[in-house]
Amino acid sequence: MTASRVSRSKYLLVTAIVLLVTMLSATDPTEDLSEAEMGRILFFDKRFSLNNSISCADCHIPQFAFSDTTALSKGFAGKSTTRNAPPLTNLGGRPYFFWDGRAATLEEQALQPIQHPAEMGMNIEELNKRLQANPQYVNWFKKQYQQLPNAQLAAKAIAAFERTLETGNAPFDLFMDGDSGAISISAMRGRDIFMEKGKCFDCHFSPDFTADEFKNIGLFNGKNLNDSGRYSVTGNPTDIGKFRVPGLRNVAITAPYMHNGMFKSLEAVIEFYNNPSQKFPDAINRDSTLNKPLNLSTREKSDLLAFLQTLTSTSAKTK
Ligand code: HEC
Ligand code: HEC
Repeated sequence: MTASRVSRSKYLLVTAIVLLVTMLSATDPTEDLSEAEMGRILFFDKRFSLNNSISCADCHIPQFAFSDTTALSKGFAGKSTTRNAPPLTNLGGRPYFFWDGRAATLEEQALQPIQHPAEMGMNIEELNKRLQANPQYVNWFKKQYQQLPNAQLAAKAIAAFERTLETGNAPFDLFMDGDSGAISISAMRGRDIFMEKGKCFDCHFSPDFTADEFKNIGLFNGKNLNDSGRYSVTGNPTDIGKFRVPGLRNVAITAPYMHNGMFKSLEAVIEFYNNPSQKFPDAINRDSTLNKPLNLSTREKSDLLAFLQTLTSTSAKTK
């Protein structure tokens, strides 16, 4: 894939999102909305934070596949989150959410940031009051659910919106559908590295490049890297340092990377995987797949990067 092609697909993606947002924000308030359209409006509503300062979209920014551009996001009172805000695209089929998998559904997930003291700092009673004080919301919720607005129903609508954020038609999908010109020769070589020499496919497989498993790539040493990940949920010592394998669709636009946002670029991620134990020799419990250096050449690294860049969708179209 050439550089101009990459920037063109990014441009198209951004344009499509801007158009979509403009179209949706022109919605007539008296009109009937679908559950997902309601959810989209709630997702952008700052009343969900205690001091009315931030919405979900402040940490999950639409132009970046609904991820954040900083390693750790700032919550309603300027406090930082302890993990990187992941993208929200292609979550429809996921069996659990968060880096440590502690939520089983999107509905259950949504209530957590709302009440988190570092994120939105709200309590459910206050949120119910605010939602019920808004005549538009009362109207929409009565039509949709035959009930007054409340936090649980709001979470349901937000989850319905999130399920619409499926992205397909990336250059790589077009290539897989038979358009051999959709990706560059370099990206084709990069795909082979992803599948074989790089061993990426051992963990990042399935249509969204995640097997929904928990793995430890060696970003835990109990010292400066002290987030124990899945272990904090299960208490099982074999889970120390394991995190959910993230999907890789749109990964070129979701920097920074990893649960703590420690890598600013895909180049840095590839450098890390090329020799994980050199970078973090004291990592605890690292997956054995990553014990030996990959010894990728400069060209192989740039081929792998070119492949990862073919996973960016040109629009937020349904798969
Ligand atoms: C202050 C920033 C912030 C706000 C506001 C915020 N989030 Fe998040 N979000 C995060 C962070 C950080 C994580 C990762 C936390 C973790 O894994 O422990 C996350 C994780 C998620 C996930 C899990 C994604 C996955 O791949 O597992 C979803 C879904 C999500 N947020 C939706 C929302 C919704 C809906 C709202 C609004 C109600 C919201 N977020 C508000 C920062 C934020
Ligand atoms: C042993 C399983 C495993 C292997 C092999 C593996 N990954 Fe990962 N990958 C993970 C896990 C787990 C994470 C999240 C780790 C964390 O945040 O601590 C991750 C994170 C990433 C991220 C960051 C995504 C984001 O949204 O932050 C990228 C990019 C990535 N991997 C690409 C690759 C590439 C390229 C290869 C091959 C060179 C590879 N992975 C090999 C398990 C693996």
